[in-house]
Amino acid sequence: MKRLFTLCIVHCALCICLAQGVDHARMNQFVDNLMAQMTLQEKLGQLNLPVTGDIITGTAVSGNVVDQIKAGKVGGLFNMKGVKNIRQLQEVAVKQSRLGIPLIFGMDVIHGYETVFPIPLALSMSWDMEAIRNSARIAAIEATADGICWTFSPMVDVCREPRWGRMSEGNGEDPFLGSAICRAMIEGYQGSDLTDKATMMSCVKHFALYGAPEAGRDYNTVDMSRVRMFNEYFPPYQAGVEAGAGSFMTSFNTIDYIPATGNRWLMTEVLRDRWGFDGFVVTDYTAISEMINHGMGDLQTVSALALNAGTDMDMVAEGFLGTLEKSLNEGKVNMAAIDQACRRILEAKYKLGLFDDPYRYLDDKRASKEIFTAEHRAAARRLATETFVLLQNKAGVLPLKRTGKIALVGPLANTRANMPGTWSVAATSDRYSTLLEAMQRATKGKAEVMYAKGCNVCYDAELEKNSTMFGREMRDERDPQAMRDEAVAVAQKCDVIVAAMGEPSEMSGESSSRSQLTILDAQRDLLEALLATGKPIVLLNFSGRATVMDWEVAHIPTILNVWFGGSEAADAICDVVFGDVSPSGRLTVTMPRNEGQIPIYYNHLNTGRPNPKWFTKFTTNYLDVPNDPLFPFGYGLSYTTFSYGALTLSGNQLSRNTLDATSQLTATVTVTNTGNREASEVVQLYIRDMVGSIARPVKELKGFERITLKPGESRKVSFTITPDLLKFYNADLVYDCEPGEFQLMVGPNSRDLQTQTFTLMN
Ligand code: BGC
Repeated sequence: MKRLFTLCIVHCALCICLAQGVDHARMNQFVDNLMAQMTLQEKLGQLNLPVTGDIITGTAVSGNVVDQIKAGKVGGLFNMKGVKNIRQLQEVAVKQSRLGIPLIFGMDVIHGYETVFPIPLALSMSWDMEAIRNSARIAAIEATADGICWTFSPMVDVCREPRWGRMSEGNGEDPFLGSAICRAMIEGYQGSDLTDKATMMSCVKHFALYGAPEAGRDYNTVDMSRVRMFNEYFPPYQAGVEAGAGSFMTSFNTIDYIPATGNRWLMTEVLRDRWGFDGFVVTDYTAISEMINHGMGDLQTVSALALNAGTDMDMVAEGFLGTLEKSLNEGKVNMAAIDQACRRILEAKYKLGLFDDPYRYLDDKRASKEIFTAEHRAAARRLATETFVLLQNKAGVLPLKRTGKIALVGPLANTRANMPGTWSVAATSDRYSTLLEAMQRATKGKAEVMYAKGCNVCYDAELEKNSTMFGREMRDERDPQAMRDEAVAVAQKCDVIVAAMGEPSEMSGESSSRSQLTILDAQRDLLEALLATGKPIVLLNFSGRATVMDWEVAHIPTILNVWFGGSEAADAICDVVFGDVSPSGRLTVTMPRNEGQIPIYYNHLNTGRPNPKWFTKFTTNYLDVPNDPLFPFGYGLSYTTFSYGALTLSGNQLSRNTLDATSQLTATVTVTNTGNREASEVVQLYIRDMVGSIARPVKELKGFERITLKPGESRKVSFTITPDLLKFYNADLVYDCEPGEFQLMVGPNSRDLQTQTFTLMN
């Protein structure tokens, strides 16, 4: 009876609220009313996000989770797929729990759903905000058609650490670009109305600094100055708050020696008090109980620590559910903190329209019409072609002609499950093409594609097993020499060799750190054997991180980095390899010459002894390797060439290169396509603050524009420079700009730039 009464109030409140967007006064009133009816255990239940693995694997609606839902001890569930499964559990919550509070259903919809887009690192290489926004939009349409209303994305951890496998899930090393992508993703997922059946709530993760683990080892300690946090690592998270993300996820690492999940400075002072975040914070998977290993105390202590820090929802650890009542009785937490957390979760459900209609995302007619559609797949294919980075193309081996015989070799050439890339939880890879299939399609009736695997991922079976988990095994038990010989024999019969090599998809992602980033031994040996045939080679490098390719760059004429391109990767690779589309991806991570250069990133500080030329004694350099990377941030070739005209500045009437608090400057450059193919270029703007109250980076990305030009076509590209663009956090963590001289640089990457100077007046 009471339950019905509650839902009744809900309906009335929402009729008005839905027409107007979220009306905070009504939402508060609604939540007040509901909370007034809730017991302590029911409130703690809302903070509980258990794992649903038992249900996903098909043992259906039984077991502990269902009993917990009935008892009002569950706030939401995650990573369960399909309207039918989700509806069953939503019905248990709505019909069989005392107050009938609906569950929130989350999932790691990271780069698409069944239509899988390229991994986030690859997406960033497109620098195409519109297409990235659209990828999130499509992900939201598909996921909500399948019952999901909350995604654990975007992942915006700035990362200069390619040993860390989760570099694959983020947007690379730059905070400015990372912020733009964060905004685009949130806009795509959430749209302008969260109650819309085809939008879902986003979750910015992993807050914070997860991308800077010591030694690149996953889950490891993070320690950095606050100036660095605020200027170089925090901006994308803050952009997430400003874009209206509904939730945040804590990270596993420590910050200032306190795990993020229990770090009050981070979760309350920075996220809420400084940035004004008003959504809810969920922990990462078992992050509360992991604080026991961090040495923060027993489960009761760490649960209280997390709640008092400002964490609202407990993913899997059941520390909140199991211990907060005791802590309340012992005065270790107070009722206001529990109420606050419960309120934030109920608000999220309200914003999603779940109280109005708990089955809002459970329309069983949508899935068959809206998931993996031709239109979505075409968008994924198009965007994938924008993410591939052409690193070198000596003698113009690419694009290939559709004639003669093409040898396709390598461990990634004929695998389906490895195409979508890590964290593609909803993928149905039996429907995706292998590169071999796509290449046969692309050349049908014109050229012959001959295939040989040539080698396994590596000689070490154990390493391969650990790198190909989740049903993506690909090991071939044949003798390595026999496999290599077969590939060489195939190559000898062909005009050109395409080598599909690199990492299998689970060699990056969570818990996939590497200490060596070179192409693995068996693949290198195969490359050497193929080189000996004297045939031209195109290396397609699959990877989820920056890899070390000094040997390949010295020996292989043509290298196209293809990352992991999603469900349509294979066709998209063919589009670029055969020249239907010119490559336009630009690196968003610096490519090191060797692992010893790590961390290597373009926006570093100067030392007191800059290095004029390698090797110069008593300047900052290594004895055995230059300082500069193999390929700089922003770099990427095309099948055409672009020329940049002179960079000009225009300002106010008095001066073309001075700026004050109220004025702005415009930097303009004309870019021309000087080749004979239509192609896209990413025009990049960098700024250097020459003198500051703290040391300032040698350059920072402050603008970019992706343009497409026909052969011979020119386009004027302009950037507006405002004082706002020059602000940074000083030693007191005050965000402001400082008067003085600045360099402004424009060009095709962070190395090849034209420079002008300007002055910011007092
Ligand atoms: C990952 C998160 C993910 C969560 C839920 C964790 O292991 O770190 O990124 O969202 O699992 O699947």
